[in-house]
Amino acid sequence: MKILVATEKPFAPVAVKGIKEIIEAAGFECALLEKYTQKSQLLEAVKDVNALIIRSDKIDAAVMDAAPELKIVVRAGAGYDNVNLEAATAHGIVVMNTPGQNANAVAELVIGLLLYTIRNRFDGTSGTELKGKKIGLMAFGAVAQNVARIAKGFGMEISGFSPRNQPQKIIDAGFHVHEDVQSLFAENDIVSLHIPATPQTKGCITYDLIKSMKPNAILLNTARKEIIDEEGLLRAMTERPDLRYVTDLKLGAHDEAVEKLAGRYIFTPKKMGAQTSEANINAGLAAASQIVDFFKNGVTTFQVNK
Ligand code: 3PG
Repeated sequence: MKILVATEKPFAPVAVKGIKEIIEAAGFECALLEKYTQKSQLLEAVKDVNALIIRSDKIDAAVMDAAPELKIVVRAGAGYDNVNLEAATAHGIVVMNTPGQNANAVAELVIGLLLYTIRNRFDGTSGTELKGKKIGLMAFGAVAQNVARIAKGFGMEISGFSPRNQPQKIIDAGFHVHEDVQSLFAENDIVSLHIPATPQTKGCITYDLIKSMKPNAILLNTARKEIIDEEGLLRAMTERPDLRYVTDLKLGAHDEAVEKLAGRYIFTPKKMGAQTSEANINAGLAAASQIVDFFKNGVTTFQVNK
C-alpha cells in the first residue's frame, strides 16, 4: 500500500515523522508531496497511490481520475468542502475527516486574533478588554466549544446559536441559546463563526446581519470565507465604520476590502487556525491511523461520504 501525504501547506516536521512511523509500522509505504504549486504535480504524484492524507488540498474528479488505485482520502482536519464527495463516491473512494483534532488550535487563534484586535494590533495605544464582553458563537461544534472554554477564563459572557436547531450542547454547557441568528448578531459584542461551507451556508452571513451588529462589534471568521456574502460585508462595513472583520481567511475581494476598510479588515497572511505542531500531530497521526485501520480492519468510522 502506498500512502501519499499531499499538503500544499505542510504539517510541522514532527507530525510528518509521526505519520511516517505509523504508516511504515503497518508495513505500508509513505510518500510526501509538500508545498506543491501546480495541480499537475499532484496529478503526477497520485498516479500509483492507494491512500491520500490531505489538508485544504483540493481533491476533485480530475485528481481521482489520475489515481486509479486510490481507495481512501483522509482530510486531516474538520472541513471537507475541498473534496468532491459525489465524485469520490462515484469512484468508490472512501472520504474521512478527523473531527476535533485541530479544534483547540483554531480556538486559540480566535482568542489571539481578538486580543490583537482589541489592543489595537499592539501599537501601544489604549485598547479594550475581553472581560465582561459578550461573545456569540455561531454553531457549537468542537472549535466553538474550545472558544467557549477559553473565553470563560477571560470572564466573557458566552452565548450560542445552533443553525441546525440542535441547541442541547449549548444548554448543557450552561450558556444562553439564541432562538435565531438575528439575535446572535444583534446582541453580542463579538460574533465568532463556526459553521462549515456547504451549499446551504454559502453567503449566509449577509448585509442585514452585519449591519445589525452592536456598536463597535467584531465579526470573527476562522471557519470559511464562502459563508460570507462579501458584497454585503463590504457595504455594511462601509456604512458602519465602527465594525471590524477579523479572519485568517482572506476574502475573495481582498484588495478591495483592504482599500475600503482600512485597518478594520484584519487578516493573517495565510490560513493558520490549525497551524500548530500539536494540531498537526493530532490530525496527521489520526489520519494515518484511520488509513491503517481502514486497510487492515475495514474500519470506516469518520467516513463522510456514506
Ligand atoms: C479544518 O477544516 O480542519 C481547518 O479549517 C484547518 O484547515 P487546514 O488543515 O487547511 O489548516
